[in-house]
Amino acid sequence: MTEHAFSDAERRAVYRAIAERRDMRRFVQGAKVPNDVLARLLQAAHAAPSVGLMQPWRFIRITDTTLRHRIHALVDEERLRTADALGRRCDEFLALKVEGILECAELFVVALGEGRQAHVFGRRTLPQMDLASVSCAIQNLWLAARAEGLGMGWVSIFDPRALGELLGLPADAEAVAILCLGPVPEFPDRPQLELDRWALGRPLDEFVSENGWAS
Ligand SMILES: Cc1cc2nc3c(=O)[nH]c(=O)nc-3n(C[C@H](O)[C@H](O)[C@H](O)COP(=O)(O)O)c2cc1C
Repeated sequence: MTEHAFSDAERRAVYRAIAERRDMRRFVQGAKVPNDVLARLLQAAHAAPSVGLMQPWRFIRITDTTLRHRIHALVDEERLRTADALGRRCDEFLALKVEGILECAELFVVALGEGRQAHVFGRRTLPQMDLASVSCAIQNLWLAARAEGLGMGWVSIFDPRALGELLGLPADAEAVAILCLGPVPEFPDRPQLELDRWALGRPLDEFVSENGWAS
């Protein structure tokens, strides 16, 4: 521990937000997120690190109900295509709830901004570091939302070109996430995909090695 460490209670709060964050797809219908809370969450997202400080994120708040339904329809189309691509797990996948677009209090589309090719610092050999940076912003939002008592779900089941067209994105921007945000009835203590017996998370020691790749 160094002199820069947070207090015990503050550290516990940080680790608690990390441990108790969940991907949420069930929301309290008709609930709202107060404006000041929403402003804090977006500020938390915007405080994320980004490669070369390029801040490649764009947050598009969806407040139009018709647009929300059209986004839902796009996701549902891709959900069916995904099910088809899954072959033998098709029916099992279709039984999962994979989004809460029509129920959540707030809906955001997160996109990679335009003109990213001008940013070379940290991206010459790894251009995908723009997406890594946006992911950091989304994770900040996710953790801050959990601390505020709100759930968030990251939806990636959509065709980015179709969503980009729907929202008028420039050709070199790209939608990478649909975020469902709002009050939830409860936070499960394990990933929903484990509870639904779709997949099982593996323990940390299987992912850590020393001085080289562990086979
Ligand atoms: C990049 C990314 C995309 C995701 N896309 C979806 C999605 O489209 N639908 C869904 O139900 N969950 C989605 N998830 C949530 C994961 O299924 C979830 O994070 C994982 O099962 C672990 O559960 P937890 O987040 O509650 O710990 C996504 C998560 C990430 C990080």
